[in-house]
Amino acid sequence: MTVTVGVLTETAPNETRVAVVPEVASKLKSLGATLLMQSGAGRLAQFPDDSFTGVEFADAAAILARADVLLKVQPPSPAEIGALKSGAVVIGFMQAYARPDLVKALRDRRITSFAMELVPRISRAQSMDALSSQAAVAGYKAVLIAANALEKFFPMLTTAAGTIRPASVLVIGAGVAGLQAIATAKRLGAVVEAYDVRGATREQVKSLGAKFVDTGVSAEGAGGYARELTEEEKAKQQAVLDQRIAASDAVISTASVPGRAAPRIISEAAVARMRPGSVIVDIAAEQGGNCTLTRAGETVIHGGVKVIGPINLPATLACHASEMYARNVFNLLKPALPKGELAIDWQDEVFAGAVLTHDGQIKHEGTRKVVEGQ
Ligand code: NAI
Repeated sequence: MTVTVGVLTETAPNETRVAVVPEVASKLKSLGATLLMQSGAGRLAQFPDDSFTGVEFADAAAILARADVLLKVQPPSPAEIGALKSGAVVIGFMQAYARPDLVKALRDRRITSFAMELVPRISRAQSMDALSSQAAVAGYKAVLIAANALEKFFPMLTTAAGTIRPASVLVIGAGVAGLQAIATAKRLGAVVEAYDVRGATREQVKSLGAKFVDTGVSAEGAGGYARELTEEEKAKQQAVLDQRIAASDAVISTASVPGRAAPRIISEAAVARMRPGSVIVDIAAEQGGNCTLTRAGETVIHGGVKVIGPINLPATLACHASEMYARNVFNLLKPALPKGELAIDWQDEVFAGAVLTHDGQIKHEGTRKVVEGQ
């Protein structure tokens, strides 16, 4: 039997993205899938119903009752899990650590769930890497927020009223979001420097035309692994970073450690040393923030410095974020639809790595330990 793929309107607060865009709907159809979509699901991402071809529109209850595969951005709600067919497949960001109740419900309803955040970061799976695609959106948008909040130009200007110095931007954390932030701030004409604990980022930062902040401390240990720094080394590292923070007009902080609270890198004392009017955009706000003053979803003003803690940045660029996310999901699902019928190859390391629940069990070991406590 050909597979029925369902797409719902996302109901989480502030979520504007949609899991399938018209281009991906057509591709799913050409694989032989039947696509069932909730009317208006793409509206907030600027994909009205009439931009989709070959899609059947239905209400949420009908979609949940019929879908073999449900495509989501945010995790399914308890009600959605309860209404799905037993044995159905759900793909989306599952936020397993934050929502053990959902994981249990998926297990108990014998739903096969794949978490986009668990897709292995191997070369072959790059086109399925939604963490990266959405992080790139966040890095880009964070710089625009900083530029908008800063009461200064980013580029150097030579005008009849004199020369304006370019803004200085410091990016902390040079992963996917950080590298996109560097590139965006450079395009806007700022003078950019960046810092990361991973030594491998030094060349990447430089290749984007930014300066790498040299703390004079190397965390490189034997075999390329990071080593634990001594207290003295940590203090030296922080002192250099604090000095660069104080000198910046805008700081974009993106530092994150998977599965843990965000590292605290910007202290209240460091913020107090910044010039009034300076801006911090803390992308890690939802994981607790890189700055001790950050409050998720709020702007805190401290000594004239704006500390901005945006939440769900990808949803603020919903059209392109959805386009990228939908392609990631399609690239993951495609090998499981060889003849328009669902056939998951459990030997495939991508499916084996991304599976959260299957057949009444929590398959992801880390999540299973947290949820089942053993
Ligand atoms: P992330 O979002 O988990 O972290 C962001 C950055 O924060 C990382 O670069 C990390 O080193 C840095 N960081 C952590 N603690 C810090 C601290 N105390 N001070 C300063 N910086 C700190 O990472 P993301 O962006 O998801 O990926 C990180 C890296 O993983 C990539 O740059 C890449 O090398 C690799 N990757 C590989 C992929 C592949 O092979 N398919 C795909 C995506 C990423």
